[in-house]
Amino acid sequence: VTVYVPRDSAALALGADAVAAALQAGAAARQLPLQLVRNGSRGMFWLEPLVEVATPAGRIAYGPVAPQDVPGLLDAGLLQGAAHALCLGPTEQIPYLARQERLTFARMGVTDPLSLADYEAHGGWQGLDRALALGAAAVVQEVQGSGLRGRGGAAFPTGVKWQTVAQAQAAQKYVVCNADEGDSGTFSDRMVLEGDPYMLIEGMAIAALAVGATRGYVYVRAEYPHAVAMLREAIARATAAGVIGARVRGSAHAFHLEVRKAAGAYVCGEETAMLESIEGKRGIVRAKPPLPALQGLFGQPTVINNVISFASVPLILARGSAFYRDYGMGRSRGTLPFQLAGNVLRGGLVEKAFGLSLRELVFDFGGGTRSGRPVKAIQVGGPLGAYVPPSKWDEPLDYEAYAAFSAVLGHGGVVVHDDSADMARLARYAMEFCALESCGKCTPCRIGSTRGVEVIDRVLRGEHRLQQVQLLRDLCDTMLHSSLCAMGGMTPYPVLSALEHYPQDFGLTATQDL
Ligand code: NAI
Ligand code: SF4
Repeated sequence: VTVYVPRDSAALALGADAVAAALQAGAAARQLPLQLVRNGSRGMFWLEPLVEVATPAGRIAYGPVAPQDVPGLLDAGLLQGAAHALCLGPTEQIPYLARQERLTFARMGVTDPLSLADYEAHGGWQGLDRALALGAAAVVQEVQGSGLRGRGGAAFPTGVKWQTVAQAQAAQKYVVCNADEGDSGTFSDRMVLEGDPYMLIEGMAIAALAVGATRGYVYVRAEYPHAVAMLREAIARATAAGVIGARVRGSAHAFHLEVRKAAGAYVCGEETAMLESIEGKRGIVRAKPPLPALQGLFGQPTVINNVISFASVPLILARGSAFYRDYGMGRSRGTLPFQLAGNVLRGGLVEKAFGLSLRELVFDFGGGTRSGRPVKAIQVGGPLGAYVPPSKWDEPLDYEAYAAFSAVLGHGGVVVHDDSADMARLARYAMEFCALESCGKCTPCRIGSTRGVEVIDRVLRGEHRLQQVQLLRDLCDTMLHSSLCAMGGMTPYPVLSALEHYPQDFGLTATQDL
């Protein structure tokens, strides 16, 4: 009987290894035919470690399971999917999962992440095979037709980027995956690396084919040791199996892929700083233009995409662009894996088509706060994203709808705060974060962030409060419009949104002229 215990970092942090060991020891002692598979996580972190049992009626879930629960579970008939206080019923029917639209994350938690046979049995390599049959130009067209936009946060049309690289003339081109997932409350890249790494390899191989690149790098944050190890092993196995390497799936195309551990700075996730870092230099932002698509890694044309962008591509090729484009709203096509974190009851991954509201996400899926107190603010899009106030919780999660009120979806990170949050301190934190992480290349960010902390401190002390608030606004305006990259350019989002929607936390009355 196959029993699944995730090996995802979140599950490991909650004791999955001890549960797996207890299951094996308990089954051996009882002479039960237990076959353990270490799968990826389903992304329902409040239920981890989530143990699943394969039964003729499908997989039955139990969770959260502690090692001491294991003997009782085995005695109650775990291997038959028997009833138990921890039994959650059929996994696929757990409402949190059943109500999602898992396109990119369809295999997540279902398969053994390193099993090539499992990957193939669940639709793996179909996109790559179709891409090889279609040829480069048609692949770019498919991606363009799908409406896919960059999932790292900037939402630039992926097909347009690939077209630019495809048209560039050069002896060597590169494909680089940005897996330096640094946004607060985000983990979708990590889940792919640990839970379905062949999907990323397949997406990158398709990109290489589309633009004529033969070499690729995955820049993975060093704080993700399990992800680094899983990806390295997956690349080794895919290369040994002839999926990538000298002859991609037996074709005339070569694609060699390597992992690079990131340098530990937030700004190294900025694409040009990342290129510097891969080249062995200090991670400092390069001025654009030239665009990396034309002069990227080692000065050569380079496709740079986020993990989720590449991971979305195999399905688009396998099912056709129209299938993917049918999900979503407006110019935001397909799905986004939202990541619920912070003070939330049910934290985890929710893949849904664009267009649902933050209220549905945080309350229907997330169940409100973990503390049980009212939600006060929700930061969407990482540490440089705006704090979204209650008046905007019914807006559709769509790139343009969010931009209309100076907010961003970014990489899909959603961090919930209850009414004990002090928004002025969080605004100060944003400036402090920028001061700590600034690469130092441009003045608005390097100096502005430090001055920003000082100005907020004066506001909090009540020194010339109104005048200092105006100064803060002017400073944010300068950072917004004249920083070289998004680090300094987006820090004003959390600061200004906190100031605008929560003036009382800055010692201002709502009626005071801001
Ligand atoms: P950007 O708008 O400058 O560029 C987006 C992408 O499109 C880049 O790859 C750029 O090279 C490419 N591009 C732009 N014009 C092009 C053209 N004409 N042809 C071909 N390619 C073109 O945005 P940037 O600075 O790369 O990213 C900022 C975003 O990063 C923010 O919105 C933020 O949400 C996100 N972010 C994500 C983090 C994460 O952990 N995933 C961390 C920090 C920020
Ligand atoms: Fe460097 Fe900040 Fe300027 Fe970006 S905005 S280039 S991180 S100093």
